[in-house]
Amino acid sequence: MKICLATRNAHKIEEITHQLPKIEWVSLDEIECEEELPETSTTIAENSAQKALFIWNNYHENCLSDDSGLEVEALDGEPGVDSAHYSGERDSEKNIDLLLNNLFIFENKKARFVTILTLVIDGKTHQFEGEIKGKIINERKGKNGFGYDSVFVPDNYTTTFAEMTLEQKNALSHRSNALKKLQIFLQNNYF
Ligand code: IMP
Repeated sequence: MKICLATRNAHKIEEITHQLPKIEWVSLDEIECEEELPETSTTIAENSAQKALFIWNNYHENCLSDDSGLEVEALDGEPGVDSAHYSGERDSEKNIDLLLNNLFIFENKKARFVTILTLVIDGKTHQFEGEIKGKIINERKGKNGFGYDSVFVPDNYTTTFAEMTLEQKNALSHRSNALKKLQIFLQNNYF
């Protein structure tokens, strides 16, 4: 089955294709989509749908999009839908600096990552949500992954996502939890 993966984030592409290798993934370049995908909504679910529906409406391709974010309890769910540009720029290092500064005075470091995948297949829209709970640590640890991985330690673990291999992160991450639901849906309906 062919599905266009509606993201240019190389890390997301690696995590998704690694977990669902049976799908024939088609890139945005392959469908000759050069535009920036719209994500102008105020929720992760709506942004996710917006990206996938943009591809369906303009390119008529079955597609999968991923919108994700980090929600920190003491910061009332921030950075949330603004995770990618929390500092005002799409710059992970500046985003982490701001997060650590804002969280410094709080004892409660609880956070969760959430992903909402949107699959548009044969014109029908389906969403799959995954989360992973954990905490934010005061300084960066590890070099793998992307975004906030170096300051996030999942519950029941002692290492950050950035200290884990792709396989280890994929066994428990928010994205992989959403992908597992997608996989069951595809198996039940399309394979
Ligand atoms: P978007 O889903 O492309 O809008 O971006 C969400 C932002 O959330 C990313 O730019 C990262 O900063 C952050 N994020 C999403 N998923 C992850 C993850 O798996 N690890 C670390 N940061 C993530």
